[in-house]
Amino acid sequence: MSETIATLLHETRRFPPSEAFKAQANANDPAIYDQAEADWKGWWASWAEKLDWYEPWNEVVSWERPNAKWFSGGKLNACYNAVDRHVEAGRGDKLAFIAEGEPGDVRTFSFAQVKDRVSQIANGLKAQGVVKGDRVCIYMPMGPELAFTMLACARIGAPHSVVFGGFSADSLADRINDAQAKVLVTADGGWRRGGIVALKKIADQALAKGCPSIEKVLVYERVGAPGTLTEGTVTPEYDRGEWRPGRDLWWSEAIDGQSQDCPCEPMEAEDLLFILYTSGSTGKPKGVMHTTGGYLTGVLATSKLVFDLKDDDVFWCTADCGWITGHSYIVYGPMANGVTQIIYEGSPDTPNKDRFWRIIEQHRVNILYTAPTAIRAFMKWGDAYPASCDLSSLRLLGTVGEPINPEAWIWYNEKIGGERCPIVDTWWQTETGAIMLTPLPGIVATKPGSATRPFPGLLASVYSEDGVDVGLEHKGEDVGGLLVLKRPWPSMIRGVWGDPQRFKETYWDRFEDAYFAGDGAKIDAEGYYWILGRVDDIMVVAGHNISTMEVESALVGHPAVAEAAVIGKADPLKGQAIAAFVIIKAGWEPNDALVKALRDHVANEIGPIAKPSTIIFTADVPKTRSGKIMRRLLRDIAEGRVLGDTTTLADPSVVNALKDQYSTPQPA
Ligand code: PRX
Repeated sequence: MSETIATLLHETRRFPPSEAFKAQANANDPAIYDQAEADWKGWWASWAEKLDWYEPWNEVVSWERPNAKWFSGGKLNACYNAVDRHVEAGRGDKLAFIAEGEPGDVRTFSFAQVKDRVSQIANGLKAQGVVKGDRVCIYMPMGPELAFTMLACARIGAPHSVVFGGFSADSLADRINDAQAKVLVTADGGWRRGGIVALKKIADQALAKGCPSIEKVLVYERVGAPGTLTEGTVTPEYDRGEWRPGRDLWWSEAIDGQSQDCPCEPMEAEDLLFILYTSGSTGKPKGVMHTTGGYLTGVLATSKLVFDLKDDDVFWCTADCGWITGHSYIVYGPMANGVTQIIYEGSPDTPNKDRFWRIIEQHRVNILYTAPTAIRAFMKWGDAYPASCDLSSLRLLGTVGEPINPEAWIWYNEKIGGERCPIVDTWWQTETGAIMLTPLPGIVATKPGSATRPFPGLLASVYSEDGVDVGLEHKGEDVGGLLVLKRPWPSMIRGVWGDPQRFKETYWDRFEDAYFAGDGAKIDAEGYYWILGRVDDIMVVAGHNISTMEVESALVGHPAVAEAAVIGKADPLKGQAIAAFVIIKAGWEPNDALVKALRDHVANEIGPIAKPSTIIFTADVPKTRSGKIMRRLLRDIAEGRVLGDTTTLADPSVVNALKDQYSTPQPA
């Protein structure tokens, strides 16, 4: 693999932190890497010490592959660390959240108010019979009540399983049943692009499929009955579902009258904090398990150093709490650091395509953490939207979720960051719990498209297919292979709920001495990591490994292209042939001349081997709800197969449109 990868990604631009940024950064001494390396257990322990514990731990880590125990013997509570300790330290009046709904309603919550609200929810859950160890499924729109419900579960030791509010009834039912959740917390609906996502109705459909473990359903009234006014916006007609007395309870009856006093349950460091199902683009979802002490240590440390959090910052992670990013970098990490955050409910183009920039301007946001897919959408919408807003409060930008093509990186740097804000490209996974590869913004010079290097205390590398640590020898030349983590870390996955065998097989059986992440990566001569995408996103064309992301990145580098999704299609001659699904920008014609221009462009950028044999112009590509391109579906289309599971698709109609288009003949 190394031979081809060495020829890919010719990015040579470097962006060192400015002297001004460096001077104020939480971490600005490169020695931090060596210090953490010299005593990695001591390094993590020094972060765990910044949490509040009821009982001290007696061992930092015990590791019997694949089972890790961090901070054994220690007792703590995640909600206490995220909320109460700030109130007790006299910072109860500080704002924890500025929550903006899609209709424009803004609510603020101080840490003291969060504590009161969370305690009421916790008491409400207890009143419905929830006890320590019971699983609570949360299926709510993005908003403060979602975060509060998670914290309420943590407060009483009931692991939460948040299911993203965009998932279907089938997906919800599967997740409820897998976790055997006792209570479901949902809402009447949520706002999305001016319409209502009818969550209660979908929850009813899920429960109608048979979810015998669910005893009670708590329903938060977010949107109200049709005709309700929110900031002058009228709730349109939508299906409110069917009320089942005895099972269903309105939030107002179950929560609002509860006491604001609820003690935090002291939890063992290794007690389960939550289950989160991975949104994998293939196969049955896995219930990734995270426990209390190690997870909190990992997210506390990474939030503080990667986002350079300061006491007076306003931090905005645009993820939904239905994903790991919202768990780690809204609810647990930033809150454990006591920072003020934005929560936004809706879509970035409602009512206009400048919504994000208005929010930043209005609330003086300092740090923005978002996804490359969003950045590419912003690019496509045009520079005028961000240019019309005052973004001068921003001082740091971040990305997560997929490789960012250098084109989008540069746009983000110039148009959003005003060339003043370091960009942290953070690689991690639901399974890793916290950020693993990232620049420390006051130390590491960034390169567009590279997640740079492992966070201090981690040991990463790349292995060849047969398990040779090729990353060890990277000095002086580029090497590529399979990304691995070679040492336990505190926020690591502890298991797959109900399936220890799958846990072992998926992550630990591939190599005998490392965690297998499932991603391909390159390490360049300077030790920088370049993520090449999921291993199943690596194409083998005429014996050469080419990453789908490389070709996508090259295509997006052409002025006509807004977005591209690339797959390897079975080919009798080459093994795989490259097919590219391309969305073009307004003002360009989808004609043969452009097909030729794009193929030549890729050939120029990467080499003739990477030239797509097929280019399909399309209005959209199928993506999971977390924004990942569903290449499996594109392969099915390209190879004429019956389509597999489409339940995690954001918009299933995209696939049918593509199937029709694919039959249209293409120039060779
Ligand atoms: O392929 C990598 C990609 O997203 C996968 C993890 O997805 P998920 O568990 O949904 O978590 C997403 C949020 C942490 C990884 O295996 N990925 C994530 N971040 C990056 C990335 N690929 C490239 N660069 C990144 N910064």
